[in-house]
Amino acid sequence: MTWIEDLAHRADAVLPDYVSEYYHSYAGDGSCGREGIADWNALRLRPSVLRDASIQSTATQVLGTPVSAPILVAPMAQQVGARPEGEVLTAQGAAKAGTLLGVSTNTGATFSDIAAQGAPWWYQVYVARNREATRLLVQRAAAADAKALILTVDTTPIGREIPAIDPRNWPAGPRKNRTANLTADELDRFGADTDMALDLTPDTIGWLAETSGLPVLCKGVLTARDARRCVDAGADGIIVSTHGGRRLGNSVTSAYALPEILAEVGSEVEVHVDSGIRGGAQAAAAIALGAKAVHIGRPVMWGLAADGADGVAAVLATYQAEFVTTLRQMGIGSVHDLAPRDVVVRR
Ligand SMILES: Cc1cc2nc3c(=O)[nH]c(=O)nc-3n(C[C@H](O)[C@H](O)[C@H](O)COP(=O)(O)O)c2cc1C
Repeated sequence: MTWIEDLAHRADAVLPDYVSEYYHSYAGDGSCGREGIADWNALRLRPSVLRDASIQSTATQVLGTPVSAPILVAPMAQQVGARPEGEVLTAQGAAKAGTLLGVSTNTGATFSDIAAQGAPWWYQVYVARNREATRLLVQRAAAADAKALILTVDTTPIGREIPAIDPRNWPAGPRKNRTANLTADELDRFGADTDMALDLTPDTIGWLAETSGLPVLCKGVLTARDARRCVDAGADGIIVSTHGGRRLGNSVTSAYALPEILAEVGSEVEVHVDSGIRGGAQAAAAIALGAKAVHIGRPVMWGLAADGADGVAAVLATYQAEFVTTLRQMGIGSVHDLAPRDVVVRR
């Protein structure tokens, strides 16, 4: 059993079944989720010998924000299901690890409480059917020092509908789990129109940038063609993602999609990647291909559930330590020296 599988077991032991199943769940037959992990392992590293790898430097910048390593926290909804303080503890863990976190639209914590923990953060946007709700949220996020917006563009309804684990049916109720950054009056006024809009177009990117004054990354892109459409519409970054295998059960995986997207837009904008990255060696392979950073989802949530802020910090520290060990074993002294020549796909 890997340390992440062990951590997942420890989290499952303290969580109600409906929460742990929601965190684990995949779309469709789950093949994209499972193969999403396997495809990172199919990338093999090519070590280089007789090189001085004694100086280990993993620090880098993401859209101008310094981080201790290119390993960030993915935005995840329903963190109050893991711990009542939710993202406040995740932000504490990220601050301790010197990295940045994504904060979901469906957060149960206020922007100011998250920001007060000292970690840089990006606000993940599900555009609401009522655009006024989204305008208020992105402007409040910017005022609370969010450094960028992550526009999630894979907004197809979640593939595997299981009423028992749907957060809308959790005992704590949707308001507590979700829109902590709208007032009760606003929630009453917007009603069901805070639900995700399904009519986004590339123009949404420019509208968000203008409304918030922040850079916009598009998350959930899996083809070069869509990456081009996003960049041409003004996106400042792309996050290649299958939503952790939670959107389209048998879609291509992130490891499969990353090279074509880098070839199309990698010289123009930052390309990040997530979904199924289960260790520092896999993170190194993604960075070697050309990703600027990787984002970690479930393992962070499991750390939060099992051990709170310390658990989040420990997960990130373990990824970072594995990343450093991998670089050293590859004969590489700095994250900036990782290159596509250092990785091949096993056939
Ligand atoms: C419980 C859970 C909730 C999530 N909620 C969101 C969300 O609100 N917005 C979003 O863009 N992505 C969401 N994601 C997807 C993550 O941002 C990320 O893409 C994915 O978890 C990465 O894959 P991994 O879990 O295999 O690391 C969620 C993922 C999980 C597991």
